[in-house]
Amino acid sequence: MIGAPRLGCAYYPEQWPRERWALDAQLMAETGLSVVRIAEFAWSRLEPSEGAFDFAWLDEAIGILAAAGHDVILGTPTAAPPAWLIEQHPEILPVRADGRVHKFGHRRHYCPNEPAMRAASERIVRALGQRFGRDERVSAWQIDNELGGRCYCETCRAAFHSWLERRYESLSTLNDVWGTAFWSQEYTAWSQVPLPDVAATPAPGPFGFSRNAPNPGLGLDFRRFSSDSLIEFLKLQTKVLRETCDPRQRITNNLMGFGFPEIDYHALAEEIDVVSWDNYPVIDTTRQWVGPALAGDAMRGLKQAPVWVLEQQAGPLGWESFRSPHPGENRLFAWQAIAHGAELVSFFRWRTARFGTEQHWHGIVDANGRLGRRRDEVRALADELAGVGDALAGAHPRGDVAVLHDYDSRFALQVQPTNPALGYEAGVRAHYAALRGLGLGVDVVSPRAPLAGYRIVVAPSLYVMDESLAETLTEYVQGGGILVLAPRTAVKDRCNAIPERPLPAWLDRLCGLEVVDYMSFGPEEGVAIRGEDDGLLAGNLHGWFERVEPATATALAVYAEGPFAGTPAVTVNEVGDGRAVYVTGVGDESALQHLYLLVAGGAGLELLVLPHDVEAAALAGKSSDLLLLFNHSDEERTVDIDVDVGNGEWRARIGSVSGGRVVLEPRGLAFLEAERAPQPASPLADTLP
Ligand code: GAL
Ligand code: ZN
Repeated sequence: MIGAPRLGCAYYPEQWPRERWALDAQLMAETGLSVVRIAEFAWSRLEPSEGAFDFAWLDEAIGILAAAGHDVILGTPTAAPPAWLIEQHPEILPVRADGRVHKFGHRRHYCPNEPAMRAASERIVRALGQRFGRDERVSAWQIDNELGGRCYCETCRAAFHSWLERRYESLSTLNDVWGTAFWSQEYTAWSQVPLPDVAATPAPGPFGFSRNAPNPGLGLDFRRFSSDSLIEFLKLQTKVLRETCDPRQRITNNLMGFGFPEIDYHALAEEIDVVSWDNYPVIDTTRQWVGPALAGDAMRGLKQAPVWVLEQQAGPLGWESFRSPHPGENRLFAWQAIAHGAELVSFFRWRTARFGTEQHWHGIVDANGRLGRRRDEVRALADELAGVGDALAGAHPRGDVAVLHDYDSRFALQVQPTNPALGYEAGVRAHYAALRGLGLGVDVVSPRAPLAGYRIVVAPSLYVMDESLAETLTEYVQGGGILVLAPRTAVKDRCNAIPERPLPAWLDRLCGLEVVDYMSFGPEEGVAIRGEDDGLLAGNLHGWFERVEPATATALAVYAEGPFAGTPAVTVNEVGDGRAVYVTGVGDESALQHLYLLVAGGAGLELLVLPHDVEAAALAGKSSDLLLLFNHSDEERTVDIDVDVGNGEWRARIGSVSGGRVVLEPRGLAFLEAERAPQPASPLADTLP
């Protein structure tokens, strides 16, 4: 449930003269902000030399902010270890995949497994917790900042050996499941196991292989280990904070949306109280709304609970050249994050930095202190939110469909990418976009999340499979669910080896077919498919095509051309009370849209007809239904709202609706509310005493 959303900002008192703090705090309040996040990079000021803490300035800053009415979120400063610490312990510096040391002078210059770093982190976090853990002015802790990176140092290598030993217990098991007989890679001691020798980024080329190609089992396990290492580093801090702080202070970490591929965020989310994420929509060069929408749904899906956006883009940004939000986009993207489940939107940052790397990352206020257009926009947003706070309190995004997000599959595809058309992120994004394009609400969740409540579950890229997950999916379908699977489902086991089973492994019975052949073309090369019977399903599959032999499945569409012309392209198999749909190639926009029109329409879900670049987000309020319409284009757009959509007459709280027609200004939005129809009485009601 989201409360009435709050606005906030990141502030760095250590970067500004003390005399300025009170004025900033007051200006923030006048801008409509009420949450301020501080101290996340301030280690050198908090601990100027080993064990000598100086918290007086932080205490004063917190006091000034609290006096102006702000809630304070305190960051732990471990993303920026100070120079004295690195001088004492140069071994803290992490090693990149290419063997280069990531030197002091930037940030994130630490190895999460290095004992000296862990000890120093524990010391500063404990001291902060002891000092501010019962402080009423502090409402939450943010651990570190945007955890990430894979370290290739010798400490990590030794830690990886222990990790493998815990996982496999014996070397012969490891040799077995990785299949190290291939190319004479059998290990006779744990210490022989290398870190996967991969290029830092895959070499460019149509099929994405990097020149070095380590054992797939090793590659997948190293990714799991690296993810675990960062989570262990976070846990070191959560443990200290839980020991020293009042549980009223919530513990969070700012994650990086759906696009960030290095940490199993499902596992990370279990360690924190609230999921937060950082939202920089204009970094997306396509300037599409799908990226930040998917990020919002994926972050909310981690705990299936409201989230905080701890960094919302406030202005132009970039390392070399600025990418600038258009006027109105700060409002639009903040609203979009709220519509996807954010109960706090905190802008990065209050004031543009005068010094340091991020002079080009613009805050709400200019570096010279000038209050301008961006500040006005945030101020107006605060007023607008206050005006509809009653409707938003207790509202939550409607999840009509679940899209499964699986890190093992994602990591395995990083180790051994095949056709770019089968890329993990692209696959999830394409199915997500098609569903959202029909106005459906999507929960992006782990395959281990409870699925029974969803009419439709979509698994766009479930590359790694095991028997128990296959059973879960089968039970879901038997219970009446509709499961949609895409090509290259279940071709690897949990060790990234190929199962000795018909494809899709462990799911062939559920899908009622076997994949007997496949062809990989250029990623953009498409072939047309043709719908069976009603002919509704149309479009192209591209890049990758599979030939299936149905056992019990029937074709919804067949290949109209290409190597497998005339054979099923999309199939459906009735199992129990539900259905399993299998798509044999990578669907283009039209194919996926048609598919979901058919599948979701057939399942009785309400669909909307949305013009290009218009996003709809439906929320269930406490006693009303809410519909937000976003026009992400720079032209006026009109949306026809069917009177059957929603449960009553839509009334516009922001924008206007008349005769079922909503006109949206360029980069504008509408906020509609309708009374919820009384719920039909439970059939049991009459029989109850
Ligand atoms: C974020 C980061 C911030 C700041 C910002 C600049 O990724 O967490 O500290 O660097 O980017 O846009
Ligand atoms: Zn390391």
